[in-house]
Amino acid sequence: MRKIVAANWKMNLRRESAATLAGALAGDLRQLWLFPAAVHLNSVRLQLSDTKILLGAQDLSVHKDGAHTGDISAEMLKDCGCEMVIIGHSERRQGYNEGSDVLLRKLVRACSAGLRPLFCVGESKAERDSGQANAVVESQLLILKRLAPEARAMVAAVAYEPVWAIGTGVNATLAQIEEMHAVVARKLGGIGMHATPILYGGSVTPENARELLASRAVDGVLVGGASLNYDALSRIDDCAKAQEIAPRGVSAQLEPAPPPEALALLFERDTDDFNIEVKVKPAAPAAIVAEVPATPPSDGALSRYEQEMGLRKPPTQPLPRTSQGRLQPVAPTSQGKLPPVRPVSQGSVPVAGDISRKATAPLPTPAPAKPTTPVAPKAPSEAPTAEVKPEAPGAKTDKPEKPDTSKNSGPAKKSNIYDDTDRPSWV
Ligand code: PGA
Repeated sequence: MRKIVAANWKMNLRRESAATLAGALAGDLRQLWLFPAAVHLNSVRLQLSDTKILLGAQDLSVHKDGAHTGDISAEMLKDCGCEMVIIGHSERRQGYNEGSDVLLRKLVRACSAGLRPLFCVGESKAERDSGQANAVVESQLLILKRLAPEARAMVAAVAYEPVWAIGTGVNATLAQIEEMHAVVARKLGGIGMHATPILYGGSVTPENARELLASRAVDGVLVGGASLNYDALSRIDDCAKAQEIAPRGVSAQLEPAPPPEALALLFERDTDDFNIEVKVKPAAPAAIVAEVPATPPSDGALSRYEQEMGLRKPPTQPLPRTSQGRLQPVAPTSQGKLPPVRPVSQGSVPVAGDISRKATAPLPTPAPAKPTTPVAPKAPSEAPTAEVKPEAPGAKTDKPEKPDTSKNSGPAKKSNIYDDTDRPSWV
């Protein structure tokens, strides 16, 4: 297989110039990976039919679907004709604080939809200067270990891009690149990714491309600035097409992605939660499982925790709160379940685990405090209190009753607690 040239156009070009550049490269029968801005994917795609140029996106949402203004899901990108997506680029790690949790979610999203990740790693100048470059890159690669083997096999390439070389005009020396690529190759080999190509990125130009691409350690290049220029990109590609990728055991030929519906089965649970661990389940190698954190859920996690436990009805009585007004955490039992419902006795405080159940006993009515001074009658405009009144069985109110959507929600959905489209009716 010939060496790879990936063009990251970042936030550049306009619809027409992107389409013209793509059309010109396609006309030359180039074999590139093109990553235009999301808004140009469609116009670029129209130029690429019946060519060997593969289309990719620069980013994707951590979410699957739903109310996430501005996000673009993996399925949408796939639907637009994308085969790949860049994940872990330093401009997103640094500019948008994307850490390993977010990147793992993006990797799983991409693989679940049949999009092949181009995963980027690289150290900063300060990290290199303090002798930590290898350790930083190794730790960035650890995330791949947390993917199911089937997802790992979908990674199109890993790109080593030292942050200090990106867009600076100062590329890493060949010695620095070869040393780091050996580190990456060793790490990838350890997790069965012998066939994953390793690219270099960071101020690649037609001038340095020949030397870089002649190295056995470099399977291809990820080009930013120079890829916006037809002549520069063509010259870089000329250097690449003359070179074969040196096999590290297995061929690095890019296979067509498996259909999304087959891949979805790889993932037993979604990873739409920052606190979960994803690991390969030993008994079933094709599945990865998500573990519920052992710590009690915090305020924000509570509703998801309730959903997970199958508690889908709205609260019928106030939840216990701390003096700061925050929800009291509820410790799960050793099996990860919410504590059993305690009967509500006079004066007892309802626990959060009670919220989904209809209280069979009337709620305790606190004894009115004896006023020491006469209390003025409440002004009619005063906001009504949120106090919950016990409901007499069969009693009618003036308010139209909310339909109990839990009863006619159709056939039971698959257990996917983080599915954005599966939100409880009261949200
Ligand atoms: P650059 O960018 O070639 O402009 O340095 C490379 C990249 O960010 O992928």
